Amino acid sequence: MDLKNNIIPDALPKHIAIIMDGNGRWAKQKGMIRAFGHENGTKTVRKTVEACAELGIENLTLYAFSTENWNRPKLEVKALMKLLVSSLTKELKTLQKNNIKLSAIGCLKTLPKKVFEELSSAIESTKDNTRMTLTLALSYGSRDEIVNAVKEISNKVKNNIISPENIDESIINEHLYTQNLPDVDLLIRTSGEQRISNFLLWQIAYAELHFTSVLWPDFTRQHLYEAIIEYQKRERRFGKTSDQLS
Ligand code: IPE
Ligand code: IPE
Ligand code: MG
Repeated sequence: MDLKNNIIPDALPKHIAIIMDGNGRWAKQKGMIRAFGHENGTKTVRKTVEACAELGIENLTLYAFSTENWNRPKLEVKALMKLLVSSLTKELKTLQKNNIKLSAIGCLKTLPKKVFEELSSAIESTKDNTRMTLTLALSYGSRDEIVNAVKEISNKVKNNIISPENIDESIINEHLYTQNLPDVDLLIRTSGEQRISNFLLWQIAYAELHFTSVLWPDFTRQHLYEAIIEYQKRERRFGKTSDQLS
């Protein structure tokens, strides 16, 4: 059965964020090296992006590389960066065909030059696309993002551009890497781990969380639909009582 038919079209999450985890374990189970898992993970990325665009999801944010992932073995980091460059080149056509706008969040200046250049050119050439915004979190850490925001706001206070009394949630929002994105509605993590790993701490304040034991390379459209269906069954109260909502 195609679970897609069970999705209520006018109650879609506006912003889905995914912690794509489990590539290494997937490869290990097959007796292969970790990079093989990452390569297969990119196929899941393509399928997920297409599925979200087809459904009408407006924003999809994918955690591709964390600030902490720099501490992995040099060879693995190198393989991941190489894969990023090749995927960006290869998938540009798919993005254009599907009218998807690419964006990126994270400490992008720490990326290797080649990655930064490919990324910037893909962002530039898809900037007028309107169907869905696909944001890649690269060299991304939520704490780094918050530190960065505090520095920018402090500088503006110092230069009398902002007065401290006027600092509110929207000012903080505007100084995060995600400034143009709405809050996350649904956060999915694959591979069975039930943690956030420094991803979008501020932006998931009221997100619904969905954890699945499926490893990222095995994650299918049906798994995505399952997560959305579960999301649609939840009651999002935002601090109110159930009675107030009805
Ligand atoms: C997620 O898979 C991809 C990245 C973090 C880059 P992992 O590489 O973390 O796979 P596991 O968790 O070791 O199985
Ligand atoms: C989180 O996965 C980062 C990405 C998916 C890019 P990790 O595999 O790095 O997270 P931990 O170390 O298990 O928490
Ligand atoms: Mg992992």
